[in-house]
Amino acid sequence: MEKIVNHCKTRGFVFPSSEIYGGFAAVYDYGQLGVELANNIKRAWWKAMVQKRDDIVGLDSAIFMHPKVWEASGHVGGFSDPLTECKSCHTRSRVDHLLEDIGVVADEKMTEEQINTLFTENMKKIHCPKCGNSDFTPAKSFNLLVKSNLGNFTGDWSKEPVYLRGETCQGIYVNFENVQVSSRKKLPFGIAQIGKAFRNEITARQFIFRTREFEQMEMQYFTTPENEMVAYEQLREARWQYYLDLGLKAENMRWHKHENLVFYAKEAYDIEYKFPFGFKELEGVHARGDYDLTQHSKGSGHDMTYTDPVTKEKYMPHIIESSVGVGRTFLAVLTDAYTEEEVEGEVRVVLKLPKQLAPFKVAVLPLSKKDELSVPAGELAQQLRERWMTDYDETQSIGKRYRRQDEIGTPFCVTVDFETLEDKAVTVRDRDSMKQERIPLTELEDYLAKQLGC
Ligand code: GAP
Repeated sequence: MEKIVNHCKTRGFVFPSSEIYGGFAAVYDYGQLGVELANNIKRAWWKAMVQKRDDIVGLDSAIFMHPKVWEASGHVGGFSDPLTECKSCHTRSRVDHLLEDIGVVADEKMTEEQINTLFTENMKKIHCPKCGNSDFTPAKSFNLLVKSNLGNFTGDWSKEPVYLRGETCQGIYVNFENVQVSSRKKLPFGIAQIGKAFRNEITARQFIFRTREFEQMEMQYFTTPENEMVAYEQLREARWQYYLDLGLKAENMRWHKHENLVFYAKEAYDIEYKFPFGFKELEGVHARGDYDLTQHSKGSGHDMTYTDPVTKEKYMPHIIESSVGVGRTFLAVLTDAYTEEEVEGEVRVVLKLPKQLAPFKVAVLPLSKKDELSVPAGELAQQLRERWMTDYDETQSIGKRYRRQDEIGTPFCVTVDFETLEDKAVTVRDRDSMKQERIPLTELEDYLAKQLGC
């Protein structure tokens, strides 16, 4: 993990937020290469979820919503984690995580009292992650919603706060009717959205795995009660295949079934990924029944039932969802791709990123800095930029430049040398095999397009 965190910082993928001020816990910035990788992840998700599906449309709802949304959804009352504080060093931790570390499961449905009983029983075996002591304050439920003073000019907004959304899907639920009517979609159909969410996470460990500001990619599929579980199985299958197509290794993924479901859920599975700190949730795939629209019907007083245009049957749509973080996908992709191999007695660090996700698809490297080569190489790079993110590098030896591109996952390096001036051809080097091929300049774009698949 340390190697990945360090690689992300030094190569421009992820920086700690406000680092010159000492950082800001559980918030991260995506650097010049990180933003490209994150954008490519979002593009791949949107393509699979919206572009390739006739039954799913997109949405971009606002981060701020009416505060009643969060009351109706159950977040104001119940979106909390059990918090404790170490009596020696005052480090705050999640009690369920401390218990998990010693192999004891505290499930989401437990009351504060039940968690405290379990916590007290096991306290001697639990150690503070910072100072190692085993003396903690009792567990207290801590609400994760982040509050703001938006639109409140009274100076006292804490009693009636406006929340930053804790999940993006609530924007989908409240827009169900707008989208359904304006798109003329019949059930079953889905609404997908990518956007920021905010949670006052208690623990700030594990890099971008768990952050207080993060992006979610969520799809909510509206269907009949009878079809809910059929659609759920189809969605589970599609989501597994999506990760294989994205390039994740099957041996690093597994399904985890939730045994203790929240009261409205029919079934819930997570796709777990083998992160450097073990198998953890990458994505949640949930069958939510009619809970969400029923709650918003009650909360708003607006009837959200759907009438089938053929049978005229009126019912509350049931929902299945797929929900995953951009940051978690980013970390899974990097974990899968980060490779160290020995080449000619030296360690080569290479990010074997799937080509569609690589920040730069190609790098143009003139063999010499002299105008004779750098001018045509610069022109070639500019020509390739019309189609792909293209890097240009003329500093240091060609070997060092290849290594630099390997470290950031660029699939192809194109070298312009003195022979190029004569034979109008370039050397193309493959990142993974390191094999080199001489390609005529007139065929270069077609060659790259075929290899890159885009
Ligand atoms: N709408 C359902 C929902 O939000 P969730 O299990 O709380 O369910 C779904 O979150 C996904 O969002 C997770 O599987 C994870 O990928 C991502 N996620 C949740 N909390 C996160 C956090 N604090 N930091 C980064 N990603 C997070």
